[in-house]
Amino acid sequence: MAIENVQYSKKVMQYFMHPKNVGEIKNADGIGKVGNILCGDVMWVYIKVGKNKKGEEIIKDIKFKTLGCGAAIATSSVVTKLAKGKTLKEATKITNKDIVKVLGSLPPIKYHCSLLAEQALTEAIYLYLKKTKKQIPKVLEAKHKKALKAEKEFEKIHKH
Ligand code: FES
Repeated sequence: MAIENVQYSKKVMQYFMHPKNVGEIKNADGIGKVGNILCGDVMWVYIKVGKNKKGEEIIKDIKFKTLGCGAAIATSSVVTKLAKGKTLKEATKITNKDIVKVLGSLPPIKYHCSLLAEQALTEAIYLYLKKTKKQIPKVLEAKHKKALKAEKEFEKIHKH
C-alpha cells in the first residue's frame, strides 16, 4: 500500500472522505481489476449493463472497491460517477485526464492513480464485451493488452 506524504486538493479530499459508488455488484456483467506494480494499490470496478431508450447499451450501475491511497479512492470514485448512465461507447472514451479535470488537480506523483481508475473501467467494459461475444473496439483491445501485461507483472510481485 502507498505511504501518504502528499498534499491533496480540497476536491480530492472530498472524494476520498465521501466516495461515491463504493462496493461490489453481485452478478456484475463486467469486473475490471487492475493494480500498480510500484505502489501495490489495487482497484476493482464492477459494471451492470442495461439499455437506454434508443436501445444502446449503457452502464446502468457501477461500483468500485479500492485498496490504495487517497488519490486511488478519489479517482475510482470519480470514474464511476463519470461512467454511470453513459453508453459503453462513451464510457470507453473516458480518460484519466477527464478524471483529473473533475478533481481540479492531482499531485504529479499521484497521476498514475487516475490512470489506474481509467484502466479499471475499460477492463470491466472489455470483459463484458468479450463475455457476450460483442465487437471490441481496437482501442479497447489495445488497452486490455496493456492492462494484462501490467497485471501479470503485478501478480509476480504482490499477492492480494
Ligand atoms: Fe499508486 Fe495511488 S499511489 S494508485
